[in-house]
Amino acid sequence: KKVVLAYSGGLDTSIILKWLRTEYDCEVVTFTADLGQGEELEPARKKAEMMGVSEIYIEDLREEFTRDFVFPMFRANALYEGLYLLGTSIARPLISKRLIEIAEATGADAVAHGATGKGNDQVRFELSAYALNPDIKVIAPWREWDLTSRTKLLDFAERNQIPIAKDKRGEAPFSVDANLLHTSSEGKVLEDPADEAPDYVYQRTVHPEDAPDTPEYIEVGFEKGDAVSINGEAMSPATILTRLNELGGKHGIGRLDLVEGRFVGMKSRGIYETPGGTILLEAHRGIEQITLDRGAAHLKDQIMPQYAELIYNGFWFSPEREMLQALIDKSQEHVTGTVRLKLYKGLARTVGRWSDHSLYSEEHVTFEDDAGAYDQKDAAGFIKLNALRLRLIAMRNRRLKG
Ligand code: ARG
Ligand code: SIN
Repeated sequence: KKVVLAYSGGLDTSIILKWLRTEYDCEVVTFTADLGQGEELEPARKKAEMMGVSEIYIEDLREEFTRDFVFPMFRANALYEGLYLLGTSIARPLISKRLIEIAEATGADAVAHGATGKGNDQVRFELSAYALNPDIKVIAPWREWDLTSRTKLLDFAERNQIPIAKDKRGEAPFSVDANLLHTSSEGKVLEDPADEAPDYVYQRTVHPEDAPDTPEYIEVGFEKGDAVSINGEAMSPATILTRLNELGGKHGIGRLDLVEGRFVGMKSRGIYETPGGTILLEAHRGIEQITLDRGAAHLKDQIMPQYAELIYNGFWFSPEREMLQALIDKSQEHVTGTVRLKLYKGLARTVGRWSDHSLYSEEHVTFEDDAGAYDQKDAAGFIKLNALRLRLIAMRNRRLKG
């Protein structure tokens, strides 16, 4: 028996590693991915080696994550419950995909993850895993073991010679999940949604009030809905997102304090920092403003909440997400051009946009003489016929009132 574990190298997943071996008497393969969480991967390798793991997978997935998951999602301008940019939700399907591929490569029959039984992440990991391999076994130690308190966890670690970093002895102040798109913090000091989050929760953005007093202008180039350049310089997807994160972080952009509805039913409060993603969303909407037809734009906006909910609930690998994706991708054929943004004190605002694919016609919209491009007399009949139903209703109501 063999299991592939999503392994961060931290205390919790190290305990899981040991627990899997004793409880399931199985061989453990570790998988550690660089998704842009900003942590070195070598310590995770060292720790796995030290714990006697012989098959250790360490991979840099930043480009794949950005190109095949983050960018397709941003074509939809996806926001869950109006505000959440889905930074954790969109990373889980990729981790599961690699877990399943590694299970196949190593002849493992199970995968394991460190998400709790109360959250969304267990659902996302496992729905993705089953979608990609219907026979896979999934082990979620947090739902099974009796290590239900910090003391029990630390005791288990001590008994099994798992090194505990000094700062891990005390209770962690809150739970963090980070990748190239965002940092999310939940739990503990954040659990009362009535209390403002302390400043030390924020890890990758300056306080907007402390951001530079001079605004910064940038230009983001798009091709078929995806960002391809910053200030005229072509860059890879992950490089663009990294660069936008630096810019957003410096200007205090992308902070969010949100109470959201988890798929399992409860509400939870989270602090999110999505600096680059927040700029990217604004920029993408900026280029869509001139390149998308109104009918196309409104249709994709209508399906957006449903698309976002599918990703939030863990249905990335589902036929309905793929169908909506096909519609969204089709809409992006002409979403090519450049957006100029002003970054200042927590905000990214579009201040200019231009494109060879633009539908904007100054000739038609001008307040000045349009030299016959548009005949204002046409509008009278247009309004009259649109008003017909409204007039019939008004006449009926007048008649009934007597
Ligand atoms: N609530 C967010 C989501 O469901 C983040 C979950 C993970 N966050 C964490 N701090 N462990 O996508
Ligand atoms: C967890 O419960 O493991 C993190 C939070 C979540 O998945 O929603």
